[in-house]
Amino acid sequence: TPLGLFDRYGRRATDMRLSLTDKCNLRCTYCMPAEGLEWLSKQAVMTAAEIVRLVRIGVEQLGVRELRLTGGEPLVRADLVDIISALRKAHPELPISMTTNGVGLDKKAAALKDAGLTRINVSLDSLHEETFTKLTRRPFLDRVLAGVDAAWAAGLGPVKINAVLMRGINDAESPDLLAWAVDRGYELRFIEQMPLDADHGWTRRDMITAAEIRELLSRDFALTPDPRERDGAPAERFEVRRRDPASADATGPLLGTVGIIASVTEPFCSDCRRTRITAEGKIMSCLFSREEFDLLGLLRSGADDEELAQRWQDAMWIKPKAHGMDHTGLGAPDFVQPDRSMSAIGG
Ligand code: GTP
Ligand code: 5AD
Ligand code: SF4
Repeated sequence: TPLGLFDRYGRRATDMRLSLTDKCNLRCTYCMPAEGLEWLSKQAVMTAAEIVRLVRIGVEQLGVRELRLTGGEPLVRADLVDIISALRKAHPELPISMTTNGVGLDKKAAALKDAGLTRINVSLDSLHEETFTKLTRRPFLDRVLAGVDAAWAAGLGPVKINAVLMRGINDAESPDLLAWAVDRGYELRFIEQMPLDADHGWTRRDMITAAEIRELLSRDFALTPDPRERDGAPAERFEVRRRDPASADATGPLLGTVGIIASVTEPFCSDCRRTRITAEGKIMSCLFSREEFDLLGLLRSGADDEELAQRWQDAMWIKPKAHGMDHTGLGAPDFVQPDRSMSAIGG
């Protein structure tokens, strides 16, 4: 059998998402509780050397072709730049991207680029100070905006912006967010909120669906399908033009593109190419998988590369077919909300 992260349904994971820490300096309501979570002990979290070893096994033995660093918030890791340098040294051609909340990015962007980071996605749900602070429970909007600009200036583009929409909070702001993004050449993606909040407060009624997002944007914009191949990406992309108020048809030049990530109502599980490693070195075959396979424990017990690759393959083989939320949401018979939040699993 060829080595690779295959599953029972014929998918192959080539896109590795690795969480560097469970810690975060924001408290987004769709992710964390106000009081925060109990952080993992330093001992429980993968060291830089362990991370480098696991990535090497993924790339050299299992066909990983892309790496994304996530958290928690990856920027809170003091050795972040060193980790990226080491990964880049080991894999000169590997695309290495990072998903961050942007706090502190203004100071780190240039060093990240120099270390070999390829590109960056920043989470930003509102451009209004009050809304941002309500949503993240921290008054850091200006710092995030400075971070986005610094990432762009450092050459970490194309910069993608992730916005989770919430009913009555930032949904009405969505056309303004898009205008802001296309103006600056950032690719905005609107994301359906998934039931991954620590408070278990997700409701189907409060989730803004992809269909609603398209409707909200049609106030100002005409969206037409982006002709580029989707290629397993979670976002469905559209070309953005101003809309003619009289006819609703597209008018004027191409302004940019927008993505919609409809994990719940238009799931892309059948094309999923992801394998995830949590900050404590557990393999998760899916955001919603119930089993976790302890790769770090095995590594620390002295296992060789072959044994580690084997466990990784075993974990991925039983990747669930789909998350099962689909159109009936949490009422779907085989859907169980994970115990852990997005920050603990890894974004
Ligand atoms: P690009 O390569 O830049 O397109 O990255 P990405 O969109 O894969 O990564 P990013 O970390 O920016 O994730 C964007 C959003 O996709 C997240 O905010 C999640 O809501 C969602 N997402 C990430 N991973 C998964 C996953 O495994 N399953 C599902 N259903 N959604 C996911
Ligand atoms: N649903 C959808 N996306 C979420 N994120 C965090 N929690 C959720 C959720 N419950 C997003 C963040 C960030 C990425 C890592 O995951 O906005 O962009
Ligand atoms: Fe932190 Fe990201 Fe969770 Fe917000 S969504 S609390 S930024 S880990």
